[in-house]
Amino acid sequence: MILDSVQAIDANAVLNLAAGLDARPYRLPLPSSLVWIEADRVAILDEKTEALARAKPACVVERVAVDLADNQARESLFDRVAASPARVVVVTEGLLVYLDEALVASLAKGLGARPSMRRWVLESAAPEFVEQNMRAWGKVLASANAEWKFAPANGFDFFRPHGWSLTVRRPFFAEARRLGREGEMRFAWLVRALSSLSGWFRRKLENSVAYGVMQRSPREGAD
Ligand SMILES: C[S@@+](CC[C@H](N)C(=O)[O-])C[C@H]1O[C@@H](n2cnc3c(N)ncnc32)[C@H](O)[C@@H]1O
Repeated sequence: MILDSVQAIDANAVLNLAAGLDARPYRLPLPSSLVWIEADRVAILDEKTEALARAKPACVVERVAVDLADNQARESLFDRVAASPARVVVVTEGLLVYLDEALVASLAKGLGARPSMRRWVLESAAPEFVEQNMRAWGKVLASANAEWKFAPANGFDFFRPHGWSLTVRRPFFAEARRLGREGEMRFAWLVRALSSLSGWFRRKLENSVAYGVMQRSPREGAD
């Protein structure tokens, strides 16, 4: 989805918000002139820089230490990235679920307000899925200050008022199967068996977590 997006807009930058230890610039066939900007907290970026010191990326990699929950810091990062004649693919993978709804809205609005931000690759988790996860892991997540919070009932439509509309949607489990990575998940056999037996279960699964690509919607600009 990222490669398709890069190609679709002839992107000259990818802005990976909360990049963590993701190493895509080192393993994807990206244009060598593309600038891949990784934003995350300083400690994780330092660890990553050390771990990858000898690795050679396919494109230009920049790392920016930032607290993405800090409105001012986030906005100035967006300003900087959007300033050049940029065509940017934004990626937020495994970030939004940790933020509260107001913060996600503000982040979406900030991206929507900058025309250089052309595509946004992200995931959406259903409220039921997040609640189940919090019931099972809430204490552990809370002790790491990493509770799951954001789970809009309207899924990707949440982003519409902020200038974004969905162009591609792929359910997580179907995508895992398509890529032959289902076997890496615990209880994959059980999920497969239940999916083949029950349409209800299959639909629930398909709606639990999905990846999406959004593009700017010209008619509903940022509010
Ligand atoms: C689940 S990891 C996802 C990492 C990567 N995107 C991936 O999919 O492998 C969540 C990341 O979000 C980062 N993160 C969470 N809150 C953040 C914040 N307020 N500012 C910057 N980074 C944050 C964490 O440091 C962590 O690297």
